[in-house]
Amino acid sequence: MKRLFRRRSVIDLQAEAHRDQRLHRVLGPLNLIALGIGAIVGAGIFVLTGQAAAQYAGPAIVYSFILAGMACGFAGLCYAEFSAMIPISGSAYTYGYATLGELIAWIIGWDLILEYLFAASTVAVGWSGYVVSFLHDLGIHIPAAFTSAPYNHAAPADAGWNIWRLFTEGWTSSGAVLNVPAMVIVAVITFLLVLGIKESASFNNVIVAIKLAVILAFIAVGAAYINADNWHPFVPPQLEPGRFGWSGVLRGAGVIFFAYIGFDAVSTAAQEARNAQRDMPVGILASLAICTVLYIVVSLVLTGIVSYKELNVPDPIAVAINSLGSGVAWLRPIIKIGAIAGLSSVILVMMLGQPRIFYAMSKDGLLPPAFGAVHARFRTPWVAQLLTGSAATLIAGLFPIGLLGELVSIGTLLAFAIVCIGVMVLRFTDPAIPRPFRTPLFWLICPLGAFFCFWLMWGLPPDTWARLLLWMAVGLVIYFSYSRRHSRLHHGLFARVETEEIQQP
Ligand code: ALA
Repeated sequence: MKRLFRRRSVIDLQAEAHRDQRLHRVLGPLNLIALGIGAIVGAGIFVLTGQAAAQYAGPAIVYSFILAGMACGFAGLCYAEFSAMIPISGSAYTYGYATLGELIAWIIGWDLILEYLFAASTVAVGWSGYVVSFLHDLGIHIPAAFTSAPYNHAAPADAGWNIWRLFTEGWTSSGAVLNVPAMVIVAVITFLLVLGIKESASFNNVIVAIKLAVILAFIAVGAAYINADNWHPFVPPQLEPGRFGWSGVLRGAGVIFFAYIGFDAVSTAAQEARNAQRDMPVGILASLAICTVLYIVVSLVLTGIVSYKELNVPDPIAVAINSLGSGVAWLRPIIKIGAIAGLSSVILVMMLGQPRIFYAMSKDGLLPPAFGAVHARFRTPWVAQLLTGSAATLIAGLFPIGLLGELVSIGTLLAFAIVCIGVMVLRFTDPAIPRPFRTPLFWLICPLGAFFCFWLMWGLPPDTWARLLLWMAVGLVIYFSYSRRHSRLHHGLFARVETEEIQQP
């Protein structure tokens, strides 16, 4: 039992962050902020906002954004503290190893696959939808058989917590073969990521500039057309629990939480930052703050120019622009280009995060050495990158977006909750370690962050919980059959490395 909860020492991890120079340390604060915005702004704002307003919150979706933004703000402060203190690419996995021990670290590492790898696939499916529609506008038609998953899934409403029924029932054929555009974008981005972090970050900077320009154009044009009547009543009366009223605001917060996912991906680039201790908190917190403000303003403008009842569509922002008449029709294709760009950078940063976590897990011995291989010329974890890319390509081609999106949310919330708990635990177990960034009022922020995350998880449906539990069960089998036996911590290898290092002149 004791072995399962053995922790890696923070001092040891700091030495490792300093010693391991294999990845290319080229990212400055602006790159890191752009990576954060690149990962955050995507399907959430371009697709989910309208749907959540139409179905759950009405104009009060603005409050949902504030609520979810607060939950992410608490988690963001905790990530900032950890990532400056332990600037290692493993992110929450490594923080878990330093605070709660090997088993919990493995659970977070395995869980993060649900966040990064599955988010890349989810957003690729959204990307495919926008690209198909954009090409359609240009007169290019891709056959429907190749633009969506081969089946859909809707959990049987009366299955309750019957895990067997949740897994086996509710699958229907969609008539399609594969979602080819989704597979192509994941494959292309995988190759870009293999080529180098600098190239990838520069590409990301360009995309982020495009999507920010498009969003600002939407705000500037839309603001002139706001009709305040659309905001009355701002909190529509509740129809049933979770549909409008304040309970709808909460439900909406659970749905649009997805829109905030990604700021934590900045922390996986810690070993590629020039000055991680200073710039990690800047990258995480600045990108989160910028996106929170953007989201609040966009949702105000969106629900101000068109009635929320008309927003239950896959492209709510484009629909809102349409409603403004032919005078602003020029903005419609631009919005689509912005969405396509926006979704591409989310895929890019998520696909950047995943192999770096594998890299850290492999160096700890919990995954096979191949996952830790760094390309001699490109200085990227190329084997882990190609494996991640292959898995994400398959998932993007085969699974429908709804099923993937909720798995991403539950996996991310679990990781956030554990990080919040970890920061608090370490304040008590190792209070003296220098912390370049300290979460203010940690005794309040950490428990509140963890509470918010568990609470949002609780609101997710039973079939998503069932998938999380199955995923974790598979992870535990791998841990007990491989990782535990190969753990470098268990074999005392870290202590030896540290001693060797200390002996060096
Ligand atoms: N936050 C990311 C998005 O909205 C995952 O696409």
